[in-house]
Amino acid sequence: MSSAATARRSATVRAPAKVNLELKVGPRRPDGFHDLATVYMALGLHDEVTVIPADEWSVSVTGPYAARVPTDESNLALRAARLLATVTSVDEPVAVHIHKEIPVAGGMAGGSADAAAALLACDHLWSVGMSRDELLEIAAELGSDVPFLLAGGIAVGSGRGEKLAPVLARGSYHWVLAVSDGGLSTPEVYAECDRLRSGQETPTPEPSPEMLAALRSGDADALGAALSNDLSDAALSLKPELGEVLASGLEFGAKGGIVSGSGPTVAFLTDSSEAALDLCVSLTATGVAREVKRAKGPVHGAQVVAGPSRT
Ligand code: C5P
Repeated sequence: MSSAATARRSATVRAPAKVNLELKVGPRRPDGFHDLATVYMALGLHDEVTVIPADEWSVSVTGPYAARVPTDESNLALRAARLLATVTSVDEPVAVHIHKEIPVAGGMAGGSADAAAALLACDHLWSVGMSRDELLEIAAELGSDVPFLLAGGIAVGSGRGEKLAPVLARGSYHWVLAVSDGGLSTPEVYAECDRLRSGQETPTPEPSPEMLAALRSGDADALGAALSNDLSDAALSLKPELGEVLASGLEFGAKGGIVSGSGPTVAFLTDSSEAALDLCVSLTATGVAREVKRAKGPVHGAQVVAGPSRT
């Protein structure tokens, strides 16, 4: 293929953010990870990743959070593209471009979403035709949340969070996300969780019957009451001001509130798009969070939106 034609080929994939409706953390494993039982929901807040054949591997970022995303070899989307090239023996470097709308280091898996999007985009660009299971396996090597961002919807995660099982769920839910300054480091939040629980018996993590029943019924009140996160105490211990964020959202009438993953974003469930807008306005007015966003869930996982093309 001529270099002019190569330069015009590209593929674009968008991938969602996530919230953990429930996150049960088991004991620390010998490999440093923790066994989890988690219920993921994909949220309608997306990053978009475009891959374009290039002379050298590179990554660039645009969007409101661009300045906070690394553009060196540590970038997870770049690592995803390189890993897929290695596994499939493709010898075609790509320029990875990320348009970032998911807050960085917020507990909403934005980096994992970019990795999932980069995997799928390269799979299309190179026409390697990986099966869904093969892609999920490669995704798991990149991070515990990456397989779910490929799958989307609502799923139960076990192992480190990378083993997915379907869950019977109905309904569409309206969320308000209160994003705080100063991301929490995921390993530090897990370490704080271990510290707070030291000496205590940690049961084998399992999804709660209340959560599974709430999802089956599609009832926002029941889901709000069933939200729970074992990392919440640790996130609040490292960032006590999150307590004020949680209390404000509940005071303003949210059906439930939860620290998202390892934080510091706090996710509030409401029962309509009007209620979400009201909560958004009220929380913004209090100034307890740097930024307040709305998102619906569940939504699809990573999806190709364009390409490969030669436009
Ligand atoms: O898999 P991921 O790269 O997202 O994990 C980031 C860090 O979070 C890990 O290095 C580990 O410290 C912690 N973690 C954990 N147990 C999990 C998932 C993540 O301890 N199940």
